[in-house]
Amino acid sequence: MSSLVLAIETSCDETSVAVVADGTRMLSNVVSSQIEIHAPFGGVVPEVASRAHLETLEPVLSQAMSEANIEPADLTAVAATNGPGLIGALLVGVTAAKTLALAWDKPYVGVNHLEGHLFAAFLERPDLQVPMITMLVSGGHTSIVHVKERGRYEVVGSTIDDAAGEAFDKVARYLGLGYPGGPVIDRMAQAFEGEPIHFPRGMMDGSLDFSFSGMKTSVINYVRKHPETPNDALAAGFQEAVVDVLVTKCMQAVETYGVASACLGGGVAANSALRQKFAAECAARGVDALVPARQFCTDNAAMIAAAGHWRFEADGPTALDSGATPNLRL
Ligand code: KG4
Ligand code: ZN
Repeated sequence: MSSLVLAIETSCDETSVAVVADGTRMLSNVVSSQIEIHAPFGGVVPEVASRAHLETLEPVLSQAMSEANIEPADLTAVAATNGPGLIGALLVGVTAAKTLALAWDKPYVGVNHLEGHLFAAFLERPDLQVPMITMLVSGGHTSIVHVKERGRYEVVGSTIDDAAGEAFDKVARYLGLGYPGGPVIDRMAQAFEGEPIHFPRGMMDGSLDFSFSGMKTSVINYVRKHPETPNDALAAGFQEAVVDVLVTKCMQAVETYGVASACLGGGVAANSALRQKFAAECAARGVDALVPARQFCTDNAAMIAAAGHWRFEADGPTALDSGATPNLRL
C-alpha cells in the first residue's frame, strides 16, 4: 500500500509545501525563502515572517500540487511542522494543514521540525542504515543525535549557548558582512589563500556538548586587539575553528556509539568546509557518510512529509484540537 503525504513547513523564514510518496520519493518540494525580506533587519522578524507565510502559502501550495500532478483525493495525509519554531509562523502552517485536512476529509499529522531534519537523509538514501549519528546544525539548533531506529532517537550532545548558525550570523554581523552570515563567511573562507587566524576551540573536553558563544567572543576580542586584521583571515579562522569542533565531536559520537553511518542536517550543513571535513573523516573510519544536497539541509517541506509518513504509520493522525509548540523537543 503506497502513501502520499502533503506537508507544510512554516516554522521560521521559509514557506514550503511538498508532496512525498512512501516517505522517500519526492514528487514536489516548493520553497519560498523570506531571506530578502528579513535581511535589512539583520535577522528574522517574527511578525514579518508570519505575514509573509500567510501571503505566500496559497501560491506555494498550488505550485506544489500541480508539480506533483496530484488531486486532494490522492492524498493519504496532510502534515505540518508543529514545532519547534516561531509561534506565529508555525500557526500559519498548522492552521492551513488542519483546514485542508478537514476540507479534503484526510487525516492531519503534526511533525516535529527536528525529526524532519533527521528524515531528510532518507529522501536521498532510502537504504541508509540505522543506527546512525546525525549532526543537526542550523540557526536555531545544534545537536548530535543517535538515531537508533526510524522514530527512536537520543540527543547525545547539544549546544549550551548559541547554535552554530547563530554564531556564524553574529560574527558576520560584527564584521559587517550582512545576513545571513554563514554563506558569506563560507565564500570568504573559500576564496582566502593566506594563513587563517587561530581561534581557541570551545569545550574540547571530551563531552559531546558545544559552546559557540566563547568562540564568537574570541573573534571580537581579537579584532579589538588587532583592528587591522583583514576580514577574510578572521572569517577563515572562525569557520575553521567551528568546523573543527563540529567534526571532532561528531566523530567522537560515531566511535562512542559504534555506528556504521553518519549524516549532516540543518542550514550550516551547507558549509563547504564542514561538508568536506565530515566526508573525509567518515571515509577515514570506513563510515558510510551522507552529506545531503543543500536543498535538503536548509528548511524544506519534503523532509516534513518524509517524517510525517513515518509518524502517521507509527502513531496515526494528530488530533485537530492540538496546536503548535515553539520549544518542542525531539
Ligand atoms: O536550517 P536553517 O535554514 O534554518 C534554521 O535555523 O532552522 O539554517 C539557517 C542557518 C543560518 O544561521 C545560516 O547562517 C546558516 O544556516 N548557513 C550557513 C551556510 N548556509 C547557511 N552556515 C555556514 N555556512 C554556510 N554555507
Ligand atoms: Zn531547520
